[in-house]
Amino acid sequence: MKLAFVNGNIATFQGYTLSPQRGENFGDLGLIKGGTILVQNGYIKEVGKDLPIPPDYQIIDVQGRLITPGLIDSHTHLVHYGSREGEYIWRIQGKPYMEILKEGGGILSSVRQTQKASLEDLLKQSRKSLDRMLSMGITTVENKSGYGLNLETELKQLKAGQILNSQHPVDVVNTFLGAHAIPLEYKENPDGYVEEVIKMLPIVKEYAEFCDVFCEEGVFSVAQSEKILLKAKEYGFKLKIHADEIVSTKGAQLAARIGCVSADHLLAIDEEGIEELAKSKTIAVLLPGTSFNLMSKKYAPAQKMINKGVAIALATDYNPGSCPTENPQLIMTLACLNLKLTPAQTLAAFTINAAHSLDLAHDRGSIEKGKIADLVIFDCDNVDYIPYHFGINHVQAVYKRGIKVV
Ligand code: NIG
Ligand code: FE
Repeated sequence: MKLAFVNGNIATFQGYTLSPQRGENFGDLGLIKGGTILVQNGYIKEVGKDLPIPPDYQIIDVQGRLITPGLIDSHTHLVHYGSREGEYIWRIQGKPYMEILKEGGGILSSVRQTQKASLEDLLKQSRKSLDRMLSMGITTVENKSGYGLNLETELKQLKAGQILNSQHPVDVVNTFLGAHAIPLEYKENPDGYVEEVIKMLPIVKEYAEFCDVFCEEGVFSVAQSEKILLKAKEYGFKLKIHADEIVSTKGAQLAARIGCVSADHLLAIDEEGIEELAKSKTIAVLLPGTSFNLMSKKYAPAQKMINKGVAIALATDYNPGSCPTENPQLIMTLACLNLKLTPAQTLAAFTINAAHSLDLAHDRGSIEKGKIADLVIFDCDNVDYIPYHFGINHVQAVYKRGIKVV
C-alpha cells in the first residue's frame, strides 16, 4: 500500500532531541506547511515540501489540515471492570480521595469489581475505551494492571491487554502494577504484600514490559517501592513509578536513582526531585486531568521542571477513579490552562516525548523517514486550535501503520 498525503500542515517533530537541556526545543513542531508524506507498507518513506510523487502512489489531499504523529497515551489504567460513579457524589461533597481508599473504596472498589469479572467482561469494556481513544487520535497506549492485587486477576488484566494488542489497531503496552494498593487482608502486614508482589514478578514477566509502583504516603513507601522496582529490574522489566502525587515522599529522586523510564504525577515534587530528574534520563509524565478531576488546587510545577531541563510528557491517566476520561485533547487543554504549556508543547508531550516515556521513540512519536506511519489528521489547520476549542474531538482521520482506521 502506497499513500501520498499532500497539502498538509505537518507537525513532524523531526530532529527532535532529548538533549541534556531537554527543554530546549520542547514545543518546536518541526512544522512543514503544505507538505507531503509518502507512506509505504506502513512506514514513512519520505516527508518534505514539494516532494515528487511516484505514479503508483494513491494521493490523499488533506486540504491544508494539520497532520500529527499518532498520539501516545503513556499512562492509563485501561483494563479494569466497572466504574465508581457511586463515589463521585462523596468527592463532590469534599471527601478526600485517599480517605475513600482507606475505607476500602476507591482503588479497592475497582479491585473487587475486576476480581469478579471474566476475561471476556474485561475485553468488552476495554475495547469500548480503546475505540474511543483511537477515535480521538491515540495510536499507542500503555495499560497498567493493578486492579487485581492477586496473581490470578493481575494476569487476567495483562492477558486482556495482550489480546487487545493483537486484535485492536491501537498498540497496547502492558505494565504490571501489582503494587497499586495494599489489599485489605494485608492491611496489618504491608511488607507481606510487598513479598507477594515480588513473587508475582517472574510469573507476570512474559505479559508485561514495564513494572510500576504507587509510591505514596499510606500506600507503598520509597523503601518498599525501591525493593519491588529493583527486583523487577533484575527480571528485565523496564521501570515506571507513580511518584509524589499527593505528598512529597521523594519518589522522583528514587526514579532518577534507579533509572525509571518515567516518573508520573509529580504534583508534590520538591526542588531536589526536579534537579535529580533534570540530570537523569527519566521522563516526567504529567497528568493534569487527575488534578482537575480530584478538584486539587495542586498541579505539577511544569514550568519549573521545563526551565531546569526535565523532559515532560502528558497522558490521560485514564482510570475509573481519579481520571475517568480517554480524551487526550481535553488533557491538552488542561495542560495549557493549568500547567501553562503552549499548545505546541502539549502536542510534543503527547507524541515524541510520550514515545520516550514508553521507550518507543526509535520507531514512533514523530513523522520521520523510517518510522511507523501512525498519523492523525485534525479538522483544523493549526495546533493551537485543538486545546483552544475544548471538550470536543477534532480528529478527522487516523492512520495506523499506514491503514485508515478512523
Ligand atoms: O494514577 N494514583 C494511583 N492510581 C491511579 C488511580 C486509580 C484509581 O483511582 O482507580 C492514578 O491516579
Ligand atoms: Fe495512574
